[in-house]
Amino acid sequence: MATKKARIISVVNEKGGVGKTVTVINLAAGLSLRDKDVLVVDMDPQLNATKGLGFSPSKDGPSVYDVIKLEVPVPAQSVVVHTPWEHLDLLPSHTDLSGIEIELANVAGRENRLKEALAPLADVYDFVLLDTPPSLSLLTVNVLAFAREVLIPCQTHPYAYSAMDELLETIAIIKEDINPDISIMGVVATFFDRRTRVSNRILESLKTDKRLVGKLLNTVIRINTTIAESADHGKPVVFFRRSSTGTADYLALTDEILG
Ligand SMILES: Nc1ncnc2c1ncn2[C@@H]1O[C@H](COP(=O)(O)OP(=O)(O)OP(=O)(O)O)[C@@H](O)[C@H]1O
Ligand SMILES: [Mg+2]
Repeated sequence: MATKKARIISVVNEKGGVGKTVTVINLAAGLSLRDKDVLVVDMDPQLNATKGLGFSPSKDGPSVYDVIKLEVPVPAQSVVVHTPWEHLDLLPSHTDLSGIEIELANVAGRENRLKEALAPLADVYDFVLLDTPPSLSLLTVNVLAFAREVLIPCQTHPYAYSAMDELLETIAIIKEDINPDISIMGVVATFFDRRTRVSNRILESLKTDKRLVGKLLNTVIRINTTIAESADHGKPVVFFRRSSTGTADYLALTDEILG
C-alpha cells in the first residue's frame, strides 16, 4: 500500500486575507484534475478551507483537532473525509483548534504533534497541502515543523509586501530551530490588477527582490470576483467555473508547481 511519497506543502503568510486558503483549495483542485492524490489539511480554526471544499463541520464531527489534542488523540486516517471530487481528500478543521495553544502549553514536543500524527499519510498521497491561520501560532509552527516546502501567497499590495520581511525571518528561524528540511518553494503574487499602478509596482518589487531570486513563480493570480463567488458555493473556483480567469490562473500555478 505504502507506495507514495507526498510533497508536503504549507501555504503560509502571517498577514491575513492574502489568498492562502483560496490558493490551498484551488491548487489542490488543480492537482486532483491532474490525477494526483491530494490531501488538504485545514489548520485554521476559521474553517475556511473546510467550508471552501463544501463541508459544514458539526460541533462533534471529527477534525484535525482530534489528531493533535491532548486527550487520547485519534489516528489521522480515521478523520480524513472524501470530498465530492475524485483524488481530493480533506482533514477538516474545528473551532476547538483555537484553544490548542493553551491545551498543549505544558506538553513536551508540542510543535511536532501534527508531524507525528500525519506521518503515515505521507505514504498515501502525492501531495499534502496545509492551510494555516494568519498568525505565527502553535498551529502554524506545527505546520512548519511537518512541511518540506513553503508556498507564500503575497498580495500585490504594499502592506502585504512589507510583511514579507517578518515572514522570511520566521521561516529562517523555523529552519534553524525546528525543521532543517524546510525550504521556500515559491512566492506567488495574488490579487493582481494590471490596471492599477500599485499592483504593477508591487509585482515589480517582487521580481527585483534579491531575497526572492528564483523563488517568485511565473504564475500571477489575478483579482477575479468569481473566486469569492465560488467560496460562497463551497467549491474551488476550478470546479465552479472552468472559464474564469481564477481557474486559468490556478491551473497555470498547478502546472508550474508540477513543472
Ligand atoms: N484572486 C482573487 N480575486 C478576488 N478575490 C479573491 C482572490 N483571492 C482570494 N479572494 C477572496 O479574498 C478573501 C481572502 O482570501 P483568502 O481567504 O484565500 O485569504 P487568506 O490569506 O486565507 O485569509 P486568512 O488570513 O483570513 O486566512 C476571500 O473572500 C477570497 O474569496
Ligand atoms: Mg485562510
